[in-house]
Amino acid sequence: MTINIILLGPPGAGKGTQARRLVEERGLVQLSTGDMLRAARSSGTEMGQRVAEVMDRGQLVTDEIVIGLIREQLAKGGNGFIFDGFPRTLAQADALGDLLADTGMSLDAVIEMQVDDEALVRRITGRFTCGNCGEVYHDETKPTAQAGVCDVCGSTDLKRRADDNEDSLKTRLLEYYKKTSPLIGYYYAKDKLAQVDGLAPMDQVGADIAGALEA
Ligand code: AP5
Repeated sequence: MTINIILLGPPGAGKGTQARRLVEERGLVQLSTGDMLRAARSSGTEMGQRVAEVMDRGQLVTDEIVIGLIREQLAKGGNGFIFDGFPRTLAQADALGDLLADTGMSLDAVIEMQVDDEALVRRITGRFTCGNCGEVYHDETKPTAQAGVCDVCGSTDLKRRADDNEDSLKTRLLEYYKKTSPLIGYYYAKDKLAQVDGLAPMDQVGADIAGALEA
């Protein structure tokens, strides 16, 4: 079954973790604007240089840039999408509605992942990822089996994100509450919203998302 879903939640809520599971389990395409912007910044393009500074401060990149990135990806087609970290403003949400309608698709569900701020700080400051395959780890909740080596691909290129520090995180949280959290009401009013407890263990969150999608 083809479905298009949004994973909505503050930084560190577990959107990327659950999106990767949904890709594996359901063959959906993950569209993470954060990953796209990080790819743009490491490509050294002019746009990449512009967004790097904004991201490191923890602020949102302009609607125009991220909507352009999503438009490009949707034009490539796919059998169901997970929007991870997009939309983040009401303007982006309106644009997504138009883009989906233009390509004959619709939005099936918006999953809000609820996690309190204290847990978010612990998750973000303990996170590291594999630079080769993108697997996400955590110092306490998901360490690698062998220190310094990725469980999935064996790479030793394990990294921490430049914006995963307490200062940037404060700005990222403020941006979320000011600009992104109004989307909760927006999608509730459209009868698309489901909420899951993002504080639960990862497998339980995955099961709760599956339950919400069945419903
Ligand atoms: P982005 O890359 O989207 O970052 P984010 O929203 O801040 O979210 P994160 O990737 O930090 O967290 P996550 O929810 O994916 O959590 P994860 O699964 O890794 O955006 C980065 C920047 O790009 C933005 O600040 C902005 O500048 C820009 N940007 C991106 N999109 C934009 C847009 N649309 N508009 C404008 N600007 C945009 O999990 C976190 C940690 O917790 C991991 O270590 C994980 O192992 C652990 N964990 C996950 N689930 C659990 C669990 N259930 N229990 C215990 N630990 C868990």
